[in-house]
Amino acid sequence: MQISVLTEHDKLETRVALSPDTVKKLVSNGLNVIIQSGCGQQSNYSDQQYENAGATVTRTISDKVLSSDILVTVKRPDDKVLAKLSKSAIVIGQMDPYVNPAEMEEYTKYGHQLFSMELMPRITRAQSMDVLSSQSNLAGYKAVIDSTAEYKKAIPMMMTAAGTIAPAKIFIMGVGVAGLQAIATARRLGGIVTATDVRPATKEQVESLGAKFIAVEDEEFKAAETAAGYAKEMSKEYQEKQTQLVSDHIKNQDIVITTALIPGRKAPILISKKMVETMKEGSVIADLATERGGNVEIAQPGKNVMHNGVTILGTENFARLLPTDASNLYAQNVMKFLDEIIDNETQQLSINYDDEIIKGILISRGGKLVHPMYQKGD
Ligand SMILES: NC(=O)c1ccc[n+]([C@@H]2O[C@H](COP(=O)([O-])OP(=O)(O)OC[C@H]3O[C@@H](n4cnc5c(N)ncnc54)[C@H](O)[C@@H]3O)[C@@H](O)[C@H]2O)c1
Repeated sequence: MQISVLTEHDKLETRVALSPDTVKKLVSNGLNVIIQSGCGQQSNYSDQQYENAGATVTRTISDKVLSSDILVTVKRPDDKVLAKLSKSAIVIGQMDPYVNPAEMEEYTKYGHQLFSMELMPRITRAQSMDVLSSQSNLAGYKAVIDSTAEYKKAIPMMMTAAGTIAPAKIFIMGVGVAGLQAIATARRLGGIVTATDVRPATKEQVESLGAKFIAVEDEEFKAAETAAGYAKEMSKEYQEKQTQLVSDHIKNQDIVITTALIPGRKAPILISKKMVETMKEGSVIADLATERGGNVEIAQPGKNVMHNGVTILGTENFARLLPTDASNLYAQNVMKFLDEIIDNETQQLSINYDDEIIKGILISRGGKLVHPMYQKGD
């Protein structure tokens, strides 16, 4: 059984799919791992570390790489590599199937089994393979660090002989994994933290972290969570009431972190241009949803925007800015998934296609899109 890791196709990507630690474990389990030279460089993993872990390091995408049983990636692999990769290969990565379904169909034609890690079901057994959680947690932390660095004042209250500095007011919108880490980080820095979400379960979580919960708590709010624990798309009426509440609150905030997502849909706009214009000069917003269209009307993916003295950070993927930790956790998630599909005695593939995890993340097989999201009526 041979597993390959290549340098990521996306030039902005800093992460790598396997770390030297995970390679070591896979090799000690009897698997062969091939690493493309330099693929771990931005995560501070050298070729030497991979070699010491037992991997074969190769400069080129050789025939040996192309005959791999498994290719693991962080983001979608290069189409040109897929075209040459053995048809029987398994490809594991974050395929982003919601964003560009047509492109997914193109990928399918090569006949590989494509597994998309970000579709991992939110069940207890799959927690150790949950790449959304491992990456969002880091993103929430880094968004607060970067916003506070951009903010031209101190965060905690400081009482000095020369006068008192008021603590910064930090507002977190969307309290999933990223939002919870953002609250915890903002609290550690000494900010006065408030947070909002449309799922009622988050109220208690926000309060347990010492922040204040702010939301329109009507009947729709009480039922606003899917069985899978995700947010539902809210009605127009609810969104209007929520906008009013947020507008009143946001005027007084110094730093706002937005993390609101709805699986399979465009991110909801939570902050309009008008709302930005009511904010104080020097305030900072970090929009973590720009890859999904953004929570801030005027945010731009991959760019920082300055509007009326307010800075809006549009970093596309904050986890990428902590590549060593992000790669390490991603690699652990991938390794746990490899454990699921490789029999640990024979070291051969052993995939149960009726398993909830496999059904949840298998995008295509045998040249067909097989995931439930592509079936008629979904
Ligand atoms: N394995 C597990 O059991 C597991 C792992 C991770 C997360 N989860 C759960 O999954 C759920 C989703 O977490 P996530 O981080 O993936 O969420 P997410 O990234 O999909 O969304 C982020 C947050 O945005 C919120 N949101 C959506 N629309 C909003 C709006 N209009 N206004 C304000 N907030 C809005 C969502 O409710 C969510 O809390 C949570 O309940 C989380 O605890 C479970």
